[in-house]
Amino acid sequence: MVEALSQPNTSTEDVGEPKTEANWAGRLKTGVSGLDSMLSGGIPEGKQVLITGAPGVGKTLLSFQTLYNCAKSGIPSLYIALEEDTHDLLKNVQEAIPALSDVGDLMKTGMLNIKGQGTLSVFLTKGENASSTLDQMVSELDSIIKTTNPKVICIDSISLIKLLFQGEFEYRNALTHLAVDFRKSGITCLFISEMKSSDLSVLVFEQEYFIFDGIMALYESRGEKGRELHMEIVKMRGTKHSRLLAPYDITSNGFQILLKEV
Ligand SMILES: Nc1ncnc2c1ncn2[C@@H]1O[C@H](COP(=O)(O)OP(=O)(O)OP(=O)(O)O)[C@@H](O)[C@H]1O
Ligand SMILES: [Mg+2]
Repeated sequence: MVEALSQPNTSTEDVGEPKTEANWAGRLKTGVSGLDSMLSGGIPEGKQVLITGAPGVGKTLLSFQTLYNCAKSGIPSLYIALEEDTHDLLKNVQEAIPALSDVGDLMKTGMLNIKGQGTLSVFLTKGENASSTLDQMVSELDSIIKTTNPKVICIDSISLIKLLFQGEFEYRNALTHLAVDFRKSGITCLFISEMKSSDLSVLVFEQEYFIFDGIMALYESRGEKGRELHMEIVKMRGTKHSRLLAPYDITSNGFQILLKEV
């Protein structure tokens, strides 16, 4: 079951435009069923990608599963959970996706590092002003990165970072700093953020989102059979990608893009 999770889905049927150009080199494979095909092989390495969606749509599970799959294939991964303790995060993801039962082993080998809420002092002792908070946050992240040496990072979520800053300018400046630092060091980063509404007809992306190389959005809507979930790759610099509004589901095997509507 776990093997299936860690293998990229190489089927290129029914997931949108990039059917013949899959390029598996230089890509960070998410290993999430259907997603790598939508990305023509995976997220281009070193890109800074926003994963956004309304509460409960699966942002954490999608990101965690991606880092888990990376760690399984020998790529050092770092998950920074600003809103949950490590223990609670693990309990939630393993309840939702029992196939992730060997997370503890990956953590022991150091391939998967998780820093939960309470482990980052910047969030406990807010700096005197926005600038010192930013400096403290960057230097703390720098030191975690130096000790864990990740190739991929997830920050769950940047919505919380926003609360640290008094003004929109300081917040956008902080995000830009982070994205630029990660980009320079070749680290692929998934930034999770909350979207205020899942209603596509009124969807407006926040201004700060334009600094990211890629945006993957998760939407929830009410259909005839109840809640319907769709994901969209809004943009991804450096690769051709599907522009489909792709239905997805969260099953005991994890996050899956549904290749065909049932
Ligand atoms: N045991 C389970 N079986 C099936 N689906 C589950 C299970 N546990 C959780 N889910 C689904 O996963 C969703 C939660 O996923 P996740 O925590 O990744 O969402 P999120 O977008 O990160 O939410 P938040 O905005 O609260 O951080 C739930 O709303 C539910 O639909
Ligand atoms: Mg979450």
